Amino acid sequence: MQSEKSQVLVTDISFEEVRLFQQFIRSQIGVELGKNPQQLLVNRLAPRILQLELDSFATYFQFITSTEGKSSQEDILCIDLLTTNETYFFREQKQLNFFQEYIGTLNYSQISVWSAACSSGEECYSIAMILANEFGFSPSWRVFGSDISARMIAKAKRAIYQDVRMDFLSNEFRLKYLMHSKDLREKKITVVPELKKNVEFFRHNLLSPLPSQSDFFDFIFCRNVMIYFDNERRQQVLRHLLLRLKPGGLLFVGLSESLRDLQERYLEQIGPSTYMKKSNNENIETNVNEK
Ligand SMILES: C[S@@+](CC[C@H](N)C(=O)[O-])C[C@H]1O[C@@H](n2cnc3c(N)ncnc32)[C@H](O)[C@@H]1O
Repeated sequence: MQSEKSQVLVTDISFEEVRLFQQFIRSQIGVELGKNPQQLLVNRLAPRILQLELDSFATYFQFITSTEGKSSQEDILCIDLLTTNETYFFREQKQLNFFQEYIGTLNYSQISVWSAACSSGEECYSIAMILANEFGFSPSWRVFGSDISARMIAKAKRAIYQDVRMDFLSNEFRLKYLMHSKDLREKKITVVPELKKNVEFFRHNLLSPLPSQSDFFDFIFCRNVMIYFDNERRQQVLRHLLLRLKPGGLLFVGLSESLRDLQERYLEQIGPSTYMKKSNNENIETNVNEK
């Protein structure tokens, strides 16, 4: 049991402590903590600080940056706690409709899709449903999902969802690709194994490029994460994405996100927040300045 004294202390965060965590999260994953960082830090970190029986944000900061904290992966957990992971099946349906129509018009022998910042996987499984609907459960397509959050990647791999938001999922897709958990009272659903087989997840920080031996993708979805980066980071992330996109491939960003100012030379907008890669990589590597 925590003493009343420590509960009071962890709801109390100083300006300096806020600054330390802001700097930490910016340098680790490029994310800005938004308009009310005090409240966010208190809400998300205080329960963990109490659980560890530490007495302040400063002590917790010392712990996550210590050798001991790093070897117990507390730094990774702290990043997990500070990310915003909202997502649901068929989010930004307008764009997925565009994707569905687009793949129907082209002749592909193999399709490879990367959902960068996929959170708990609903985006990947929505894309997989569209591909399965078009091409069947065949090895001719694959979806790769990545996120910085280890907790979200574990959830995506399990693919068991509770209280699912289904507003944008058609009845047809629901019946074909989702299953109820064995205990109907639990209200849990999962995706059919044939769909799951074509989807793979891994933890990845968008501030780093994918390893040079990785795949090139026909489609990259990087939605609703750019808004958390400043302009410089956005540029850096965009460069990492472009290096893995095939010429002629499409990049989808969130509908409220824009690549204006960043995209002109390398991308052409062809749909709702949807861009086609014009140039090859040599062009990108020699022209985009990474800071
Ligand atoms: C709001 S969710 C968006 C999920 C999904 N793309 C969608 O549109 O529904 C943003 C995700 O970006 C991830 N994220 C934040 N910074 C990241 C980084 N530097 N590298 C990779 N993922 C990051 C978060 O962990 C979170 O799961």
